[in-house]
Amino acid sequence: MAVHALLDVAGPVQGLKVCDLGCGEGTLTRMLAERGALVTGVDISTQLLDVAREQTQNEQVQYVLDDAQTLATQPDHAFDLVVSNLAVMDIPDLVAVYAAVHRVLCAGGRFVFAMTHPCFQSPGTTVETDHQGCFLARRIDRYATEGFWRSDYAAGIRGRVGAYHRTLSTVINGLINAGFTLTRLIEPTGPQPQGPVEIPSVLVIAVCRQDSKPLRPASDPG
Ligand SMILES: C[S@@+](CC[C@H](N)C(=O)[O-])C[C@H]1O[C@@H](n2cnc3c(N)ncnc32)[C@H](O)[C@@H]1O
Repeated sequence: MAVHALLDVAGPVQGLKVCDLGCGEGTLTRMLAERGALVTGVDISTQLLDVAREQTQNEQVQYVLDDAQTLATQPDHAFDLVVSNLAVMDIPDLVAVYAAVHRVLCAGGRFVFAMTHPCFQSPGTTVETDHQGCFLARRIDRYATEGFWRSDYAAGIRGRVGAYHRTLSTVINGLINAGFTLTRLIEPTGPQPQGPVEIPSVLVIAVCRQDSKPLRPASDPG
């Protein structure tokens, strides 16, 4: 569901230079290439990149081993669009990710990414069910506690790899501080395994690179 919301917000990508940050096995990378984009999939895992390469025949795609916190392999202003599906919560330094994305985007370039919803997937969050296993409620616990956490549900991805939790204000203010303008927020709802349609498990954020200088009064020499 997150991928479709993300592609929806990204809009037409024909002919655009796109970076898929934390591309993993390259599912989103290939979907973008099928829509006509020139895509660079970036990931820190050689194993996942190998799988991605095996599954990709499209010449519009290249995969690169790199850290999203630096994007050291990529030159400044290389992309029209950076996308990322469910990767930023796996990365320790979000401020560094924002700075790296800002650097590799061209003027006015966009960053569209999906993350686990910070308000509903925070440390200690549990799902309460009735005796038949049907959803009753989601209990939010330590929302204000930022940092690494691991879900008690060992079989789920957050039980296996954990996540870096940040509050919504940290996520959004970090983008503003990095020089982005918020253009859209999407909270996809629909049937989900662990809850009712009312509680989005994912947040999709769209921003664009803010390149115009702040307006100054004519009398301000600075
Ligand atoms: C949950 S997976 C999502 C993969 C893919 N975007 C998808 O939708 O299937 C998170 C991905 O982020 C990658 N990742 C984690 N830390 C990273 C980093 N510092 N730089 C680049 N990729 C990173 C992981 O290797 C993994 O492929």
